[in-house]
Amino acid sequence: MAIQRTFSIIKPDATRRNLTGAINATIEKAGLRIVAQKRVHMTRAQAETFYAVHKERPFFGELVEQMSASPVVVQVLEGDDAIARYRAVMGATNPEKADEGTIRKLFALNMGENSVHGSDSAENAAIEIAQWFAGNEIVG
Ligand code: RTP
Ligand code: MG
Repeated sequence: MAIQRTFSIIKPDATRRNLTGAINATIEKAGLRIVAQKRVHMTRAQAETFYAVHKERPFFGELVEQMSASPVVVQVLEGDDAIARYRAVMGATNPEKADEGTIRKLFALNMGENSVHGSDSAENAAIEIAQWFAGNEIVG
């Protein structure tokens, strides 16, 4: 499988509990390289744009609220089959269903406060990376 890049967010529930380093260690242990990273506090508008695909869902308001409540760490991860690999390392959306050793099993609080985001396709990875990083901020 080819080297890919994916977009990751360490979500507010995790940054609030000082888990950035622990999550990064899990990412690196899984063979992914953090090739760009910055801490930002999303505005409501940025969170709405980022999760626009879910705007008709009942949890949208709560999701936007949570994502803009405290800082996040946005990242670009690089590696072999990075998109699927990171989804596997993240674990299921609902942490109760996440496999042992995954980030969400280890750290997530519940379905909404589930510690990390990862792109779900190559197309979305490219869109999400471009939303948060200039080309010269990504150093592979
Ligand atoms: P993400 O986009 O954050 O990587 O998560 P995902 O693909 O595993 O899940 P997705 O279906 O895209 O949902 C996006 C985020 O919305 C919140 N959510 N809450 N309360 C609920 O029923 C519910 N369902 C989803 C989660 O924070 C989820 O990660
Ligand atoms: Mg998703």
